[in-house]
Amino acid sequence: MKSMTKVAVTGALGRMGTLVIQELAKAGDMQLVAGFDAAGAGRPLPGGVTVSDASKLKEVLASTKPNVLIDFTVAAAAVENVCTAAEMGVNLVVGTTGFSGDQISRMRSAIDGKVAAVISPNFSVGVNLFWKLIAVAAEALQDYDIEVIEAHHNQKKDAPSGTALATVEVIKKVLGDAEVVYGREGIRLRGREIGVHAIRAGDIVGDHTVLFAGPGERLEIKHQAHSRTAFASGAVRAARWVVDKEPGIYSMADVLRSR
Ligand SMILES: NC(=O)c1ccc[n+]([C@@H]2O[C@H](COP(=O)([O-])OP(=O)(O)OC[C@H]3O[C@@H](n4cnc5c(N)ncnc54)[C@H](O)[C@@H]3O)[C@@H](O)[C@H]2O)c1
Repeated sequence: MKSMTKVAVTGALGRMGTLVIQELAKAGDMQLVAGFDAAGAGRPLPGGVTVSDASKLKEVLASTKPNVLIDFTVAAAAVENVCTAAEMGVNLVVGTTGFSGDQISRMRSAIDGKVAAVISPNFSVGVNLFWKLIAVAAEALQDYDIEVIEAHHNQKKDAPSGTALATVEVIKKVLGDAEVVYGREGIRLRGREIGVHAIRAGDIVGDHTVLFAGPGERLEIKHQAHSRTAFASGAVRAARWVVDKEPGIYSMADVLRSR
């Protein structure tokens, strides 16, 4: 019989952390052993666990020995959490977005050769298919104007979204030389560029559209998340997958491929 996978969650009281913990409670093969947040230490979580203060990460990981840590916090905190977990031999699922190039390099060298990590700006099945469709469309419509438009709730801190930035990378891989223009203002003709636009309003969970416009027509490919459950269940699926993988950094596409 397969043993229970022991899971820790950082950002346990946040929008995503709360849902991830609900998904873990529904899964028969996963057990929450620790939850961390910057505030709210001592608050109860499912399974008799209470919230630990973020500053206690190292000692609580040492005493609870999770197989995997799922992080949905903010970029600056996530980098520290990743470094600590990797040092302690705890595998990782990182959903946090908004990392700088330096932060990504730090996480890469902390993970390298030590643990397995799935890092994805979007854990939904639909967005991972969306990226494949975008690559096909960009290949076929290389001369069309391409714009990436994303919309999120008014509490989201980073812009453009991690998913929009990953979408731009998918398009750049096909086009090679395109400049990226974030929003537009003033007087300037459109060049060979990818326009990126971020809307922040109300409680929008997450919309991403890529618009391809050419002579007399346009094609729009759009993904809309109706609920964060799509991300939370994907993150739990990634946690189940990552625990027996060789050290290295994996994407959600790797997780989905092994269906
Ligand atoms: N990859 C995906 O599929 C996906 C989906 C949705 C959101 N996100 C990203 O996940 C992140 C979190 O989003 P959210 O909407 O849950 O945000 P949120 O603000 O609701 O939650 C973040 C939580 O992290 C806590 N926190 C801050 N520093 C911490 C630390 N050092 N240790 C532990 N906890 C700490 C905060 O107190 C808060 O409770 C964002 O970067 C967001 O863009 C990713």
